[in-house]
Amino acid sequence: MKHAKTAILLVLVFLLAGCSALSDEMALDSPGFKMQLIFKLKEGRPYYALNKNGEPIILDSELGMELLEMPNLDANFIVLDRSVESFNETWEQAWGEARYIENRYTELKVFLQEAEGLKRKMNIIFRVYDDGLGIRYEFPKQNNLKEFRITREKTQFSLIRNDSAWWIPAYMPERYEYLYRKTLISEMDTAHTPMTLKTGNGHYLCFHEAALYDYPSYTIYCQDTSTLALDLVPWKDSEVKAFMETPCLTPWRSVMIADQPGDLVTNYLTLNLSDTCQLTDVSWIKPAKYVGIWWGMHIDENTWGSGPIHGATTRNTMKYIDFAAENGFGGVLVEGWNIGWDGNWIQNGEIFSFTKSYADFDLPFLAKYAWEKGVSLIGHHETSGNIENYEKQMEDAYKLYENLGVKYIKTGYVGTSFSNGEWHHGQYGVRHYQRSVELAAKHQLMLDVHEPIKDCGLRRTWPNLMTREGARGMEYNAWSPDGGNPPSHVPTLVFTRLLAGPMDYTPGIFDLQIENKPDNRVNTTLAKQLAYYVVIYSPLQMAADLPEHYRGNPAFQFIRDVPCDWEETRVLNAEIGKYVTIARKDRNSLNWYLGSITNGASRTFDIPLDFLDEDVIYDAVIYADGPDADWKTKPEAIAIQTKKGLSSEDILKVKLAAGGGQAIAFVAR
Ligand code: NOJ
Repeated sequence: MKHAKTAILLVLVFLLAGCSALSDEMALDSPGFKMQLIFKLKEGRPYYALNKNGEPIILDSELGMELLEMPNLDANFIVLDRSVESFNETWEQAWGEARYIENRYTELKVFLQEAEGLKRKMNIIFRVYDDGLGIRYEFPKQNNLKEFRITREKTQFSLIRNDSAWWIPAYMPERYEYLYRKTLISEMDTAHTPMTLKTGNGHYLCFHEAALYDYPSYTIYCQDTSTLALDLVPWKDSEVKAFMETPCLTPWRSVMIADQPGDLVTNYLTLNLSDTCQLTDVSWIKPAKYVGIWWGMHIDENTWGSGPIHGATTRNTMKYIDFAAENGFGGVLVEGWNIGWDGNWIQNGEIFSFTKSYADFDLPFLAKYAWEKGVSLIGHHETSGNIENYEKQMEDAYKLYENLGVKYIKTGYVGTSFSNGEWHHGQYGVRHYQRSVELAAKHQLMLDVHEPIKDCGLRRTWPNLMTREGARGMEYNAWSPDGGNPPSHVPTLVFTRLLAGPMDYTPGIFDLQIENKPDNRVNTTLAKQLAYYVVIYSPLQMAADLPEHYRGNPAFQFIRDVPCDWEETRVLNAEIGKYVTIARKDRNSLNWYLGSITNGASRTFDIPLDFLDEDVIYDAVIYADGPDADWKTKPEAIAIQTKKGLSSEDILKVKLAAGGGQAIAFVAR
């Protein structure tokens, strides 16, 4: 894929080959001089620190590795050499929340070698952005370090004080599917990333990683009151975290840094630190909206398994295909089409077949029926975490879809860990998910991964990996005993989970009180459901409710119209966990779309429309909370109106009910 518009690679300084020790301290500014990275060796131990506008933001923090049955790689170093580069490129995403991404950084690579003993080499690479930092380790090929096992990565983020963070706990039964908590970091359990915090002096930091290949993902914990440290996810029953063989690299440890929470949303550090696209042809990769045989199972109207209310029957799937075609949607998800769901499917992952359908589901016929209507099936592979069973069938299963013209797979890995006891987010899991992505690319299949490993920018490298779950999605409203997702949930996700990448949240529930399940409900207004299509970015975006709940409802027009591939994204206002307003421009027209959502409080904003294209006149279709709307008492109340002749000079009053939202389509004349 040749997307680079400009690329300038300047090697600024190459200092000293040979073995004499260099200065033990060096500093590097970001391109716009906003950040300064300091690297130092203190008595042979490597540390880094980071300043923002001359003020410290990360204090001296340790670097290094602890190894099994081998001396650690964390002390006794001398600096052999260093190189400094500056890079400036604008690249184009195959699809995304923005078409063009600027990647502008300075890079320092410090070549370290042990002064005595094994004289092993380890390089540390820093990329310094005006709004972030990346750090990674490189282990060159060398005689005294071939195969090795990492038991601990020592990388720290030593903060100025004990700040407040938004976090979810790691190593828990529901993986990434927890409500975010906000506490002081000293009160945090070991947490997943992205982990976002607000510093006492008003900066927002988000810790995450990029380019995660053949290495465990990391979780983060508070080592002492103000120091965060990495905790690599282990192999099962083992002190080993990563099996390594030189030459090799770790993923980038990344910190996004912003003055406003909204700037975290448009910070593309994770993508920028990821490897460039590995696919030469991406023309077959298509963002799409979809409907599916899905919510019916979550609200007990249908079953995944066989029987009188089996959801994925030929007849029912045809109805969904017709509905998708009528409304211009690209996909129809079918869950429960394949043998293996009868009995306790969560426990019985070994009996799933990924090629054999139930007798009442005619896969070849339906794939063709869909194809003829310009729709693709989205075939579902629930593995229940049984990787052995899935890997045995993957090649045949992916080939089957390719042959039938099924373009999308939704995979699923329900279970606290995989059934062999390995964690989803350890090195074992990273390897499995990677195999699935590469095999899918070989068969020109796009992926939507549920119970995934967190997104670390792989969509840049393998853009057939389109979206993932990896947080509490809509389904929790259908059955979770804790009352579902509270109104503050999505306004928090935007600044935490969604900073990793797209999420298949599955918005668009119109039957908010869930007629079929009187003890459960969706804790939003209807207009907020519409606003999710703009606020939550996903290139595969579901209209999750049953077609009969959409038919005849004028609010459905917004879901028909809203795109899921964007030219540009702007965050117009935000407070984490409270509210956020996002405007995005369609990739294929001059139209703009706005989504604004709030937590349990009602709010009114004056929104300047200065994001609209200059010299273009727009007619706005506004889907607002009705005057008496309230997520608890009157969630369905919606007021739809058109305002004609708006331009970038206008200001719009946007009123959100408690637990509400607003969605606007600005249609260019
Ligand atoms: C959990 C997934 O998140 C959901 O979308 C799916 O319907 C069920 N697992 C069954 O696979």
